[in-house]
Amino acid sequence: MVKAVVLGAAGGIGQPLALLLKANPLVTELSLYDIVNTPGVAADLSHISTQSKVTGYLPPPKGSDLPADDGLKKTLAGADIVVIPAGIPRKPGMTRDDLFKINAGIVRDLATGIATTCPKAAVLVISNPVNSTVPIVAEVLKKHGVFDPKKVFGVTTLDVVRASTFVAEVLGDLSLVSKVSVPVVGGHSGVTIIPLLSQSTVPLPSSLDQSTVDALIKRIQFGGDEVVKAKDGAGSATLSMAYAGALFAENVIKALKGATGIVVPTYVNLSAHEGGQVIQKELGSSIEYFSVPVTLGPNGVEAINSLGSLSSHEQSLISAALPELQESITKGVQFIQAPK
Ligand code: NAD
Ligand code: LMR
Repeated sequence: MVKAVVLGAAGGIGQPLALLLKANPLVTELSLYDIVNTPGVAADLSHISTQSKVTGYLPPPKGSDLPADDGLKKTLAGADIVVIPAGIPRKPGMTRDDLFKINAGIVRDLATGIATTCPKAAVLVISNPVNSTVPIVAEVLKKHGVFDPKKVFGVTTLDVVRASTFVAEVLGDLSLVSKVSVPVVGGHSGVTIIPLLSQSTVPLPSSLDQSTVDALIKRIQFGGDEVVKAKDGAGSATLSMAYAGALFAENVIKALKGATGIVVPTYVNLSAHEGGQVIQKELGSSIEYFSVPVTLGPNGVEAINSLGSLSSHEQSLISAALPELQESITKGVQFIQAPK
């Protein structure tokens, strides 16, 4: 039995993500929460002929005697996995960090609901800025004494999905896309997104000129901007994100149910894991959160794997990413530890 929850389920990501989770035969119960429209989304999905029972909750109406978190707690009760795409998306000209002002508070409140209702659930954070919202979730769970570093994940799968697609495009053969896998490490924002192209399962030809490789790296790092620009004020990636989020959620669910050998990059706490400490040493940095290839298991993160051998260019990309990443992590931690 697997109860999956989507918080922000009526949004651009939330709806298609809920659809993909409803279509997933491993999910037996799907519960949806948003500040608007969840009863409608849940009713619609509930007609789909798969086994999961679907429910949708809202906050109590104004003037209700019920506590403000009543709908949230009902949604979260008994959850095994909670996916969070709640919050505002970017418009052209904005950075992900510009979303912090609004999304940090939303994520904090949702994490509080998780801490008090389903503290053992795996928490998959999509809301931006991921580099800060993951530390926010962790700090809230710590405050409640229920932080399990094996269970809190920043979803960076869209970067991995983009890397496969864009590499296959450069190789000139989209049919290769299912064979192309590129670890993407670091964080989820611009220069903090580091595709390790030297480890692509389908190697790039050595004849490829450096400017093409540089452009490919840049496209993976700034793929989100491409969508924001094309949507022209109507938001950011939703459909590709729902695909990526459902893929990552499926991997976590499979591992929770006992599948072995699933290795995926995700943004996690490093210092709580032996493998994470090794990476900190390799990086020469005490950075607390980093996207790394992780082996998933029945308890969440089973092991943090090595970054593998890096080219000197990849090492320089990592060095360039660390200051911005550290700043975003500190901002998230401070938001909970020392709120202004
Ligand atoms: P959206 O505006 O379409 O949907 C967000 C939903 O969140 C809305 O339905 C809104 O009502 C809901 N919401 C707002 N406050 C809430 C609260 N307190 N509780 C519950 N729900 C609440 O936005 P979107 O396009 O779905 O994007 C959502 C977030 O995901 C954004 O922050 C965006 O930047 C981020 N994102 C992350 C990635 C990634 O790779 N991690 C990719 C794409 C988008
Ligand atoms: C993305 O990478 O598409 C998301 O983080 C959304 C964004 O703001 O670009």
